[in-house]
Amino acid sequence: MKYGYFDNGNKEYVITRPDVPAPWTNYLGTEKFCTVISQNAGGYSFYKSPEYNRVTKFRPNATFDRPGHYVYLRDDATGDYWSISWQPVAKSLDEAKYEVRHGLSYSKFACEYNGISAQKTLFVPIGEDAEIWDVVLKNTTDEVRTISAFSFVEFSFSHIQSDNQNHQMSLYSAGTSYEDGVIEYDLYYNTKEKEGYYYLASSFAPDSYDGQRDTFIGAYRDESNPIAVEKGRCSNHVQTCYNHCGSLHKQFTLQPGEEIRFNYILGIGKNEGQRLRQKYQDNAVVDAAFAEIKHHWESRCNKFKVTSPNEGLDTMINAWTLYQAETCVVWSRFASFIEVGGRTGLGYRDTAQDAISVPHSNPTMTRKRLVDLLRGQVKAGYGLHLFDPDWFDPDMADVEPSKSPTVVPTPSDADKIHGIDDTCSDDHLWLVPTICKYVTETGEESFLDEVIPYADGGDATVYDHMKAALDFSAEYVGQTGICKGLRADWNDCLNLGGGESAMVSFLHFWALQEFIQLAKYQGKTADVEKYTEMAANVREACETHLWDDEGGWYIRGLTKNGDKIGTAQQTEGRIHLESNTLAVLSGMASQDRGEQAMDAVDENLYSDYGLHLNAPSFSTPNDDIGFVTRVYQGVKENGAIFSHPNPWAWVAEAKLGRGDRAMKFYDALNPYNQNDMIETRMAEPYSYVQFIMGRDHQDHGRANHPWLTGTSGWAYFAVTNFILGVQTGFDGLTINPCIPTEWPGFEVTREWRGATYNINVTNPDHVSKGIKSITLNGQPVDGAIAPQADGSVNTVTVVMG
Ligand code: IFM
Repeated sequence: MKYGYFDNGNKEYVITRPDVPAPWTNYLGTEKFCTVISQNAGGYSFYKSPEYNRVTKFRPNATFDRPGHYVYLRDDATGDYWSISWQPVAKSLDEAKYEVRHGLSYSKFACEYNGISAQKTLFVPIGEDAEIWDVVLKNTTDEVRTISAFSFVEFSFSHIQSDNQNHQMSLYSAGTSYEDGVIEYDLYYNTKEKEGYYYLASSFAPDSYDGQRDTFIGAYRDESNPIAVEKGRCSNHVQTCYNHCGSLHKQFTLQPGEEIRFNYILGIGKNEGQRLRQKYQDNAVVDAAFAEIKHHWESRCNKFKVTSPNEGLDTMINAWTLYQAETCVVWSRFASFIEVGGRTGLGYRDTAQDAISVPHSNPTMTRKRLVDLLRGQVKAGYGLHLFDPDWFDPDMADVEPSKSPTVVPTPSDADKIHGIDDTCSDDHLWLVPTICKYVTETGEESFLDEVIPYADGGDATVYDHMKAALDFSAEYVGQTGICKGLRADWNDCLNLGGGESAMVSFLHFWALQEFIQLAKYQGKTADVEKYTEMAANVREACETHLWDDEGGWYIRGLTKNGDKIGTAQQTEGRIHLESNTLAVLSGMASQDRGEQAMDAVDENLYSDYGLHLNAPSFSTPNDDIGFVTRVYQGVKENGAIFSHPNPWAWVAEAKLGRGDRAMKFYDALNPYNQNDMIETRMAEPYSYVQFIMGRDHQDHGRANHPWLTGTSGWAYFAVTNFILGVQTGFDGLTINPCIPTEWPGFEVTREWRGATYNINVTNPDHVSKGIKSITLNGQPVDGAIAPQADGSVNTVTVVMG
């Protein structure tokens, strides 16, 4: 079943039926103010942190995605009312027509009902801590109509716990006031001029208003039938205490065919409502702010554009996958309809991986995240698994936490700097390739010399932080020389402690390969020697202890008792995706072992929805292996199609030169290809999800946890760098695609260090991999392309064969 379609011209997903089986969300805001919003306009906003600066409330885990950012309309001649988004009033879909366009950082809600055509566009202007609701109403009848419009948001008590627990102090220490078209909400205990005030403003002079939720909604009612809308007027009720809302009402008289436009603004900061209300009175200013958002994303997407024979790939890479990856880099795992904001911190490994995908489109944020992570690394080399970057931000150092009225987590040093028992074995290693990618993208070599403090005192250059990461993994190995699993490796549910993780040793090897190239480029001969030797030792240990001859694949690791995990002998957890893909991706596996391992992956883990993480699922609890054995079969880390490592398989196949297989795996996971099977998928088809129920579960194919997953960054990185094969390196730009044999070629436009490269790849012999010739502006190129002049537009012609 289909609920909508991709409008590639506008980079929008158009929902034509709002009754999708689960909320389909979007993210508004690219800086500090963020809104997560569904196709029903359900959702919530926050400023910097959804944990302690929530602006609007949301009730998670309910059968409704409420409350939200709503506009109600009322026909004052008849008393009939509806909302511009289908919910919360939910008119029959036979009577009312709804369309929702989720675009890049904006969502447009349109409704045709009762002779009124209504549109509401939500977006967060760049540079503002506020969300604009740009509303247009048109009378499509030939009669004069009297229509009332009412806004509704429910203000949050600012901290998620206060919202969830109906916290007594919150109930009595917040209040609303009204003046000149602005409802201001005052968090009385928070004296900060920014975080202590939220508001809802309107461009019009309201006829009535409500700041008290229960006055607006009414007792024993809900958002679907607020008493104020039913009556056609708010109660002009603002006061301290209880629960609060922002409703501003105005009655409009519309002549036949007449169109009117007005806006609401939701934001934070004392007196900001009045300022922005004035600023956005002029629709031209609203239009300019919206155009800026469009331009923001257009220029980011233009950094890498592809035209290939695979429309789904083009659609995702040219817009949605980059957009999702950037969303993860900016908002980490903070807020969605699943993660509703109880954790603000950066997940070390997630952020370190997300950041590898966007140095070309968002070098500033990539750099910021790298610095955050380097500050969250301890001298011993490992990363703090989950930390709030504010803890280590010098700008925050003079904010004495006990005097801060906002509830910011303020753990003691002992709590912040967890010890080795709580350390994940992979976190720090992801940093190394990401830093290399950042430097090759931007050319900012001086970043490597920047001195950055460690979380537990002392400091080092970025280059030395990288060495500390590599050295930690060399030191923390088990009896066979394979890295210890510690609290967990990439797989949160594989808790090996002193047991050993194949996946981490392969990751260590990959990080070492990247670092050695960097050290060579920097002329650090002693480091080249030291880390080349380290890599040789890692290889030796892996190839000796991790290959399972009978299965023809790499095992997943060893328990602390030396039992192997993931051998052909086992009946559950026999074969795993992470170890086999990383063995190849890292460059360790020989062509022969690599092909065998990836053939086994195809044979045992492939499904039409993507690759399973392991098979068969575990069914017997075994605490030497970890929590994975206590998760239901076919779910999450226990035998689901866990999306994040799927792109590792695409890279592995691309490295092996098997483009048909790489594309088979890519196509299976691509949400675009599931647009017409929503009855199975349920989740939005423009976003990768964390996991899809595996074949050992009755809901096989159902997609869970959209948006905040490392899949997007990896999917983008894998396709652009390995399938399309356009990579930055220390020597320059290289082009080495691995594509399906049926492709006659493809085109890429890549911006790199201020120059544009129009790359035309032809594949006359229908190979998957191999380059016959490359020319740059008509001249043959041997090896990598050096950076061309700033502003230049260059033609690169590649013939495969
Ligand atoms: O790798 C983790 C990630 O850090 C959080 N979500 C689950 C993944 C797999 O366990």
